[in-house]
Amino acid sequence: MKKLLKYPLFFVSGLLLVGSAFILPDKNATPFQPNVQASDKIQDIMTLIDTRCFVCHNPDMKTENRLAPPMYMVRSHYYNDTISRENFIEQMTVFALKPDLEKSVMPGAVRNFGLMPQSSFDENEVRLIAGYIYDTDLQSDAWFKSWKKFKKAQLKSK
Ligand code: HEC
Repeated sequence: MKKLLKYPLFFVSGLLLVGSAFILPDKNATPFQPNVQASDKIQDIMTLIDTRCFVCHNPDMKTENRLAPPMYMVRSHYYNDTISRENFIEQMTVFALKPDLEKSVMPGAVRNFGLMPQSSFDENEVRLIAGYIYDTDLQSDAWFKSWKKFKKAQLKSK
């Protein structure tokens, strides 16, 4: 009986030892703030896509004088279950940097709006934007709300 009791005690004290290594703060470590940093980054990309792309690809369906299809529609023509993030970024970036009728997969959009005009985008920025588009369900209410919130905050800070 005594022997049996010993083992659970061992076990518990072992757990406490290991656990304390996680709980006790390491004085040299910099504070870990994943949420703050991640959301800062998202704000940066939101600013990028908003200024570079949404001027024409406005997510708001109620907008008048639309210059291009909303970005979620573009996304749906490039995105599928099998495309890799890399390929998605590549295809979108190639087109955005140098719009080409031969490479277009949206003939209806070209008919309605004309081929996307060439701009001098920064390639790295476009890659970041394309990665964001791959990662983000731009058609979801949640995303639309977050974009609206972003726009509101932007207006306030002006
Ligand atoms: C000056 C307006 C304008 C801006 C700014 C703009 N686009 Fe477009 N884009 C268009 C138009 C118009 C179309 C639809 C015609 C077409 O497909 O070429 C389009 C279509 C596209 C397509 C689909 C092309 C196809 O036919 O397969 C992609 C991808 C795209 N845009 C990416 C972007 C990205 C990424 C940005 C921001 C970096 C951006 N666009 C900024 C006007 C614009």
